[in-house]
Amino acid sequence: MKSILECRPLLEAEINKVAEVAGYLWQKGWAERNGGNITVNITEYADDGMRKMSAMTEPKPIGTVLPYLKGCYFFCKGTQKRMRDLARSPMENGSIIRICDDCANYVIIADEPVMPTSELPSHLSVHNEMLGRGKLYRASLHTHPIELVAMTHNRKFLEKDVASNLLWSMIPETKAFCPRGLGMIPYTLPGSVGLAEATIRELEDYDVVMWEKHGVFAVDVDIMAAFDQVDVLNKSAQIYIASRNMGFEPEGMSAEQMREMSEVFNLPK
Ligand code: 13P
Ligand code: ZN
Repeated sequence: MKSILECRPLLEAEINKVAEVAGYLWQKGWAERNGGNITVNITEYADDGMRKMSAMTEPKPIGTVLPYLKGCYFFCKGTQKRMRDLARSPMENGSIIRICDDCANYVIIADEPVMPTSELPSHLSVHNEMLGRGKLYRASLHTHPIELVAMTHNRKFLEKDVASNLLWSMIPETKAFCPRGLGMIPYTLPGSVGLAEATIRELEDYDVVMWEKHGVFAVDVDIMAAFDQVDVLNKSAQIYIASRNMGFEPEGMSAEQMREMSEVFNLPK
């Protein structure tokens, strides 16, 4: 069977990036079994041939109405599919969907009728919001980073910006490469519209948000950049935990050192 990626090198390059990141998630231990999901808005690569492709499925409800997504195309990890398999064969473990004109349903168009991730309501709601705000963000990532998830089992880290400030203070790069910090969302049922709504609200102030006792959700211009933000945050969590394991509370960068970083690199305060 001919793949949609054939003769579409730009689209293929985007999907290859997804496969590369999926491999990293598995190697890092953040993607047990089918854990985590990725969606990428690929509408900019949709040509006439793609727009004429017929649906492989009946329209399926998204669970919410998303007006900015009319006629958009997304690559989505398949539900119950493994990141480690997606890394090898992205088009067998994910699919490309088209949002229907009613903005409430989608159809699968390629390569196989692999059902998208159960977290589709959150991913698509976020893409809708990003387009509405005129942001250039095209990729969203949900994953289960061990140390960051562990921190959410302690009430003190769930308070507003406590975890962000601690993580920023562990190593200068974290503030530089995740300048808006880590938002916190109280535990909400996975896959629910309630979780999608809470995620959108929190992404007004942050690019990476934590789903308490579950995982993170990150958005950025492409999937590599979204992964990088989670990677720097989790590195900080590991430094914190390594210090605690050595028997001391880490000192952290001082307020003055943090202020200097923000000023020199023109980061949000
Ligand atoms: P899916 O296999 O449906 O993508 O779900 C994985 C997950 O992490 C749910 O939160
Ligand atoms: Zn999850």
